[in-house]
Amino acid sequence: MIEVINLKKGFGDKVVIHDASLVLKAGHCNLIIGSSGSGKTVLMKCLVGLFQPDSGSILYGGKDYTQMSVDQRKEVRKEIGMLFQGSALFTSMTVEENVIFPLDMFTRDTRKEKMKRVDAVLDRVNLKGANKKFPAELSGGMMKRVGIARAIVLNPKYLFVDEPNSGLDPQTSGLIDKLIKEITDEFQITTVINTHDMNSVMEIGDHIVYMYQGNKEWEGNNKEIIFSKNQRLNDFIFASEFLRDAKDMRQLEETGKIANDRNMEQLTSDDAPELVPPPEDK
Ligand SMILES: Nc1ncnc2c1ncn2[C@@H]1O[C@H](COP(=O)(O)OP(=O)(O)OP(=O)(O)O)[C@@H](O)[C@H]1O
Ligand SMILES: [Mg+2]
Repeated sequence: MIEVINLKKGFGDKVVIHDASLVLKAGHCNLIIGSSGSGKTVLMKCLVGLFQPDSGSILYGGKDYTQMSVDQRKEVRKEIGMLFQGSALFTSMTVEENVIFPLDMFTRDTRKEKMKRVDAVLDRVNLKGANKKFPAELSGGMMKRVGIARAIVLNPKYLFVDEPNSGLDPQTSGLIDKLIKEITDEFQITTVINTHDMNSVMEIGDHIVYMYQGNKEWEGNNKEIIFSKNQRLNDFIFASEFLRDAKDMRQLEETGKIANDRNMEQLTSDDAPELVPPPEDK
């Protein structure tokens, strides 16, 4: 779990993150959503230590990252995997060289051990055999997958992903989301994803934080968001008529499901006496 308490970050006179307090849950996909310029990337850069916040705390397993010594921060940093917008692959390096990079930086493993790990993560993201390709030879979706492989090569406890679906078609976006969700569940990672993508919100939003003008405006999950009465959130999420219709449909569906569950409970409890064997005649 990562806990953010009263975080503030600005540049010169401009305050970007005003006073953000939020919790990012372990073993879940935590989505940070909000309009362009609302401070998602700045927040993420504070969380991973690329920006020093002006005030406030960021607790990793209860310890304040902002107050740690260089060595202590390095220890936390080893547990963090990152995938930044545009994948940020080294274009002059092959896939394999890109993925091995964090292992060279942070471990003293032998070449053979490192290669075994590289092959395992490439296999995990369905890129078996792509070792010798250069980024220019890959599609956008493949580049993201190499980025994910590099982000998980150190077996991180925390995974940060900034806009994983930018530039991808909806189907490839769905596959990338699914992959991130599977990896999160499989390795019980605290995953934090900045996104604009409403499909992602609905599909993998275990925990959603909505940022508005540098503050946390709302948090909840992908079921609660359907019923949210927060006007700013609704205007942001359900911006088109199509999505507003989809929200109404989903609400109906969910209400139907809840009613159905209640009926089932009722039925089960009504049935219950019959399941108890009748008392024997004396
Ligand atoms: N290094 C910087 N120096 C000065 N201002 C910055 C810096 N980085 C970000 N900002 C400002 O902080 C604000 C929030 O930017 P940020 O990139 O966090 O937005 P965002 O929510 O990630 O937007 P998007 O959805 O477009 O990625 C913007 O007004 C931006 O200009
Ligand atoms: Mg951003």
